[in-house]
Amino acid sequence: MPRTESGRPIQPVYGPEALTEWDPAVKLGQPGSYPFTRGIYPTMYTGRPWTMRQYAGFGTAAESNARYRQLIAAGTTGLSVAFDLPTQMGHDSDAPLAQGEVGKVGVAVDSVEDMHVLFDGIPLDRVSTSMTINAPAAVLLLLYQLVAEEQGIPADRLTGTVQNDVLKEYIARGTYIFPPAPSLRLVADTFRYCRTELPRWNTISISGYHMAEAGASPAQEIAFTLADGIAYVRTATGAGMAVDEFAPRLSFFFVARTTLLEEVAKFRAARRIWARVMREEFGARDPKSLMLRFHTQTAGVQLTAQQPEVNLVRVAVQALAAVLGGTQSLHTNSYDEAIALPTDKAARLALRTQQVLAYETDVPHTVDPFAGSYAVESMTDELEAAALELMNRIEALGGAVAAIERGFQKAEIERNAYRIAQETDRGERVVVGVNRFALPEEEPYEPLRVDPAIEVRQRERLARLRAERDGAAVEAALAELRTAATGPENVLPPMKEALRARATVGEVCTALRDVWGTYAPADSVW
Ligand code: 3HC
Repeated sequence: MPRTESGRPIQPVYGPEALTEWDPAVKLGQPGSYPFTRGIYPTMYTGRPWTMRQYAGFGTAAESNARYRQLIAAGTTGLSVAFDLPTQMGHDSDAPLAQGEVGKVGVAVDSVEDMHVLFDGIPLDRVSTSMTINAPAAVLLLLYQLVAEEQGIPADRLTGTVQNDVLKEYIARGTYIFPPAPSLRLVADTFRYCRTELPRWNTISISGYHMAEAGASPAQEIAFTLADGIAYVRTATGAGMAVDEFAPRLSFFFVARTTLLEEVAKFRAARRIWARVMREEFGARDPKSLMLRFHTQTAGVQLTAQQPEVNLVRVAVQALAAVLGGTQSLHTNSYDEAIALPTDKAARLALRTQQVLAYETDVPHTVDPFAGSYAVESMTDELEAAALELMNRIEALGGAVAAIERGFQKAEIERNAYRIAQETDRGERVVVGVNRFALPEEEPYEPLRVDPAIEVRQRERLARLRAERDGAAVEAALAELRTAATGPENVLPPMKEALRARATVGEVCTALRDVWGTYAPADSVW
């Protein structure tokens, strides 16, 4: 019998008996009302389409700025910045560790000067910008604010999101710097700073995407993501913030797999669990604190390098799952991304996929069309139960951070990833074009190439910046930052003054490394 990605049997026919214990008043509610199963807004896409937010960034700030302008011209309605690994790890482009990685998987940003180039000609008071940055999220957020300030745009006009979710980095992605305690302190400082300085900014994007890409099932994706969310809420309330002061600006980030029915159920179950946790465990009263607002990216791991055009079909199905599941923001992968950075044409086709869903189909014209479906409501209930069982196991281990330090989530994901690999190798899990319907010979494909001279040019920019700035002022500001990091006060204000003086991303992060150290995971006990 076919099974869901979470391991539950899929019935050939679902009927009324699938919903015998099912009370629509409790399980569903109305769109825009508790428990938000049907969606967080009463009107959803009938009021406003989801944000078409294509993740992009490579090379120097100038190259990425050109891609953002192309995407805006092509109709994208939100920006999403990919940073290169040195930036994500808090190293400057001229650091020895950065060698060979500058501008490779995202844009290189070393200073406020690079940030000015990155957003040159882009109206920051009229576009919302997501930045996929975690350990140094506060640094890049302040650079964004400094650019707006220096463009004369008030901070309370800025909208966007920093991913800022370091817990999933310990589990599945690896771009962490500091140990969990100072990392969580920095997250709480960022929440507090945004509450007064950047009131429309989404302070975190609690991510299940990367854990799913590492092999997590839908139930694990919900459970491990929401458990991380609970850890962040506890951190902020533990730092003295009232839950309704920061919870409305929390956001989430999930994957959309090709298994459409289960994915729609996944988004609906996640909304319902989060609403209940925020009301019952944390006593949140502001309805916006109960809403699970999320971004979705189609599943990169399901793209194939073989017959890459077939990925256009996969991405369309995955994007449809996200829309039927009520996403607020969506990134559709380019069909060639299993091979290389997307070409301009592939990136445009990815955006066109969203535009066909938004403007040619009837899906946006009615809210949560699967409501009441025997199959999807049954899957929603099953996923909710499976996720809650895993969340209770994490609670029993002492919460998400304790479970991470014992390697629990990582081990669970690896077990599921191994099962998927075995099923694929045995041909039980079909991958069209790979283990079934393969071509005797693949057709040629010309990937986009990133110019290796980028690293040289970026290092030259950095040398000029260091030569032209007031070095003494930078040193004094960094010393202020170190002092703040040793005490309880918020580190963002002194961090912003250092960045304004043209301190670099690497220098700011190194000042914090000097005080907080860097994280070295203990051996897993699972
Ligand atoms: N009725 C009423 N109001 C509505 C509405 C409706 N139907 N639809 C939208 N709105 C309002 C919202 O309330 C909001 O108002 P506000 O600004 O006052 O809050 C405004 O319109 C914008 O709507 P949303 O907030 O729903 O949409 P956004 O796109 O602005 O925000 C988000 C979506 C999920 C909350 C936000 O956090 C976001 O954009 N996240 C994106 C994260 C992202 O792009 N991550 C990329 C990761 S890539 C990565 O990790 C690396 C790679 O390896 C995968």
